[in-house]
Amino acid sequence: MDYNLTRRQMIRLGTSFGMGLAGAVFFDHGLSSNAADASQGNPWQYHELDIPTSEKLGYKGFYKGGCAYGTFYGAMFQLSRKHGEPYSSFPIHMMKFGTSGVAGYGSLCGCLNGGAALIGLFCQDDAVRNQMIQELLRWYEQTKFPIYKPSFSPIETEIVQTKSNSVLCHISVGEWCGISGYKASSKERLDRCARLAGDVSKKTTDMLNSWLKGGYLAANLSSISDDCRACHGRGGEVDDIKGLMDCSICHDDKLSDHY
Ligand code: HEC
Ligand code: HEC
Repeated sequence: MDYNLTRRQMIRLGTSFGMGLAGAVFFDHGLSSNAADASQGNPWQYHELDIPTSEKLGYKGFYKGGCAYGTFYGAMFQLSRKHGEPYSSFPIHMMKFGTSGVAGYGSLCGCLNGGAALIGLFCQDDAVRNQMIQELLRWYEQTKFPIYKPSFSPIETEIVQTKSNSVLCHISVGEWCGISGYKASSKERLDRCARLAGDVSKKTTDMLNSWLKGGYLAANLSSISDDCRACHGRGGEVDDIKGLMDCSICHDDKLSDHY
């Protein structure tokens, strides 16, 4: 091992051990745009994309490889068409892992997995990446889906919109089936999730576009569950849970005082 550290390496060590060197804050966290990523040697540079095209391709991509694949495809297909390599060599088949909450398991919604993967590919600043992904997840919890209405769709009837208060595929699909009356295996449910892939692809592209232009502003992520986290989250008096999810969907019996 080489112990002759450069100044930059020492600054990095300083930050990871929490020494709080003023210089480190500036060098490693002060810049949050694509330019900072380029200087960190990330070959996967983001380029501005057309938002409605991402929406349309997210929907189409769903029918090629599922929800995570579709959402990811919305951006990656455009990048490979407009900019060639390395985008055209991206092993996009890997995104099929995310289908229906990871291989059909019903956990994290695949659309979110696809969107988070895009952000993770392009943005290397830990704080900014996590903030952007959290914003995407929070937006998903609180929005009525699907929003996108494709011009060509196998479904003629109206697709009802539902808000799931959860990032889980299981809860999102279950809510929608409960309210729409359609079965989870119906072609209506399939098209509902394809539209959702369009919605999440659109949102992710919009966020990445503003990040690229240096205009990404961290959203206010406050939620009704902040109260719960004040005690159960990190540094709280109980400090026994992990997570930023909305607690009420699973612990609604706990919303009144229980301590
Ligand atoms: C003022 C602090 C405080 C707040 C705020 C708070 N809790 Fe708790 N919670 C506690 C304490 C203390 C316990 C008991 C812990 C133990 O027994 O180890 C507890 C227990 C629980 C348990 C275990 C339940 C049980 O009955 O054994 C759950 C689940 C829980 N809280 C969820 C929530 C949720 C959801 C919220 C927000 C709606 C919330 N808590 C807000 C302090 C708090
Ligand atoms: C997707 C459903 C889900 C969400 C969302 C969720 N929880 Fe839970 N939580 C569970 C389950 C399931 C358990 C384990 C079973 C149990 O102990 O009730 C659990 C366990 C707990 C426990 C330990 C309970 C015990 O028995 O000691 C606490 C405290 C708790 N959750 C608080 C929270 C808080 C605070 C949030 C929001 C930040 C939250 N949970 C979000 C499902 C959820």
